[in-house]
Amino acid sequence: MKDIGFDIITIFPEIFHAYLGESILKRALQKQLLDIKVYNLRDFTTDKHRTVDDYPYGGGPGMVMKIEPIYNAVQAIKAADYKNGTERLTVMLSPQGKVFNQEMAEDLSKEKRRILFICGRYEGIDERVRESLVDEEISIGDYVMTGGELAALVIIDSVARLVPGVLGDEESAKEESFTWGVLDYPHYTRPPEFMGMKVPEVLLSGNHREILQWRRREAIKRTLQKRPDLLKSVELNEEDKKILEDINRGPCPEKNT
Ligand SMILES: C[S@@+](CC[C@H](N)C(=O)[O-])C[C@H]1O[C@@H](n2cnc3c(N)ncnc32)[C@H](O)[C@@H]1O
Repeated sequence: MKDIGFDIITIFPEIFHAYLGESILKRALQKQLLDIKVYNLRDFTTDKHRTVDDYPYGGGPGMVMKIEPIYNAVQAIKAADYKNGTERLTVMLSPQGKVFNQEMAEDLSKEKRRILFICGRYEGIDERVRESLVDEEISIGDYVMTGGELAALVIIDSVARLVPGVLGDEESAKEESFTWGVLDYPHYTRPPEFMGMKVPEVLLSGNHREILQWRRREAIKRTLQKRPDLLKSVELNEEDKKILEDINRGPCPEKNT
């Protein structure tokens, strides 16, 4: 059984082939940890011009994606029985949807059903698609793009890396930004000094306990600096609260910070 499966309805399938043909996602697909089927919406049209859009009722600029091809595509995809069954979670990508975040990525990574994305284009999709075919409407942020393809890829990428085995080093997904509600700590690699800029000494010390404490402190510190809003909803333990009080009190007494 595949660990996670996605079906995508789009009028630009090549966008997916390009991105999914590289790096970690490519390997995950080869290892069958991930299964992705991309469907060209035009294959589900019935006219000779393979029409997927039409003028908006009531006038106004742009075109609207028609319901019939999308309906046909969703029905055909739902009829395809993959190893993890015929059940689908149908997601419409839309700037009006719930704004995607790490928590949603985690929930989707545990989804038993295949996730079916409907990628919009033009002025949007006939409203009856949302009303009759869609379980969830997801946005990747408060801005408008030309299509849902990048949004689908953003979601697939962030969900896939949470699937066991997709990342080479299992630990790396556990320690990243948002995983325990705060931003990631700063990372360094060789050389130890570059144009006068030194790597914090504690990281060269080999003292794992101190390294751990330093990282936790830095993670909290940079969250306070860059995204203080996140600290409102994160559960800090006693040690974290002390770190936060320390940081709030003023310049950090520790070296290398
Ligand atoms: C130009 S947009 C349509 C925007 C629509 N007229 C509105 O203002 O809500 C075309 C398509 O791009 C996708 N899209 C654009 N911005 C998005 C976002 N922030 N998140 C997810 N999908 C988005 C959606 O699939 C949408 O149907």
